Amino acid sequence: MANDTSAVSDALSPHSQSVADPFTPPADSSLWRKNFLLGAATASYQIEGAVNEDGRLPSIWDTFSATPGKVLAGDTGEVACDHYHRWEADVDLLAGLGFEGYRLSIAWPRVMDAAGAPNRKGIDFYKRVLARLKEKGITTSVTLYHWDLPQHLEDRGGWLNRDTAYRFADYADLMSRELAGSVDAWATLNEPWCSAFLGYGNGHHAPGLADTRYATQAMHHLLLAHGLAVPVLRANDPASQKGIVANIGRGTANSGSAADQRAAHLFEVQHNAWILDPLLKGSYPRDLFELWPGTEPLVLDGDMQTIAAPLDFLGINYYFRTNVASDGAHGFRDVPLEGVERTQMGWEVYPDGLRDLLTGFKATYANLPPIYITENGMASDDKVIDGHVEDSQRISFLKRHLAAVDQAIKAGVEIRGYFLWSLMDNFEWAFGYERRFGVVHVDYATQKRTIKRSAELVSKFLKERKARSE
Ligand code: FCB
Repeated sequence: MANDTSAVSDALSPHSQSVADPFTPPADSSLWRKNFLLGAATASYQIEGAVNEDGRLPSIWDTFSATPGKVLAGDTGEVACDHYHRWEADVDLLAGLGFEGYRLSIAWPRVMDAAGAPNRKGIDFYKRVLARLKEKGITTSVTLYHWDLPQHLEDRGGWLNRDTAYRFADYADLMSRELAGSVDAWATLNEPWCSAFLGYGNGHHAPGLADTRYATQAMHHLLLAHGLAVPVLRANDPASQKGIVANIGRGTANSGSAADQRAAHLFEVQHNAWILDPLLKGSYPRDLFELWPGTEPLVLDGDMQTIAAPLDFLGINYYFRTNVASDGAHGFRDVPLEGVERTQMGWEVYPDGLRDLLTGFKATYANLPPIYITENGMASDDKVIDGHVEDSQRISFLKRHLAAVDQAIKAGVEIRGYFLWSLMDNFEWAFGYERRFGVVHVDYATQKRTIKRSAELVSKFLKERKARSE
């Protein structure tokens, strides 16, 4: 018996040679394809810190996080991962792990002053980061807007003001002139659903307004901003890819009843079609206004054509599914399932949702562009013990979601790459620093980075893949 016990504990020891690798995809997975890009993602406000440095202006997240009660534990992005000062070591860490791609975002308030003039010091920061990435042979995907709107624009109405869309096009113009040639893919916006709905519809995110009519109008101006920026990016940096990043949600019905099925459909209209229909069909889904009567945004002539500008790629962020039932009126309500696996966020682990949504989009949108999974990952309450972080749930999560991507590819969806969220633990918006999404652990008191077990295994796979293709 004594021997049996030690055999078991050996097998459970993460560093034991005898354990089969719990991450590496099977030999027939499309993930082994040489041209499938594997990378990691971050975003400016979540990692940079240095909010008052080198002429950076306040953003809506500085204001929001400084407002008591808005962010868990009163956390702010003031220091975050101090990436603004540690960027070089962070890029080296990314490259050392063998990631082939990096998705980052630019902080709009760092690179432009309130009159729209360039802020040289801020721009130079991104030039240095991109140059280092290029030196390391890393493919770069740059998002222009990952939620840090300059506060001075919010003071004039933010995304409720149509003018913000034109200011965004000016910002896209400046950045694409400055950074042309060093960006492989430009994404205009990250997750307009979150900006519009969480920012203006329920107030959980900055700027914290709560009115559904605001949400639909903000969404329209966000999408317009995207549509105005795409031709500008094309003109200034023709060789790069242009796209947008949307978060998508799987909604499943709590029962087979027609009312619950309808509720699940409306959930997906609200989470997916609200963004994808305007982009890919040039119109808002009519069902959205069945769910939210009387919230049609003000749309000017030509806007929908602008919004539906052809894309080189669509970035997809996927995290979880929501089980819903009819609310008895014209909407849906969440019915959390019992006994399912969840993450530190309380989000259900549901890889099939990613596959099913992707194959569904292919069937719905004849002009669906090539896809990059631009975010996917999970939070866990990771601790450094004896210098190691054993994040076994994340390893299994990533493995299962990559398998779902493989299944979607085999079902005919063109998926060109996958960026995990996130390279390192960071400021998780309204949840502050408590929720850890990184494959690298950050000790916020010392800024020490510790490679988690998940990063070790992803790295092992990346290096094996590279060696095979050489
Ligand atoms: C997404 C955001 C990203 C990160 C993950 C967990 O909605 O784009 O910044 O916070 O969720």
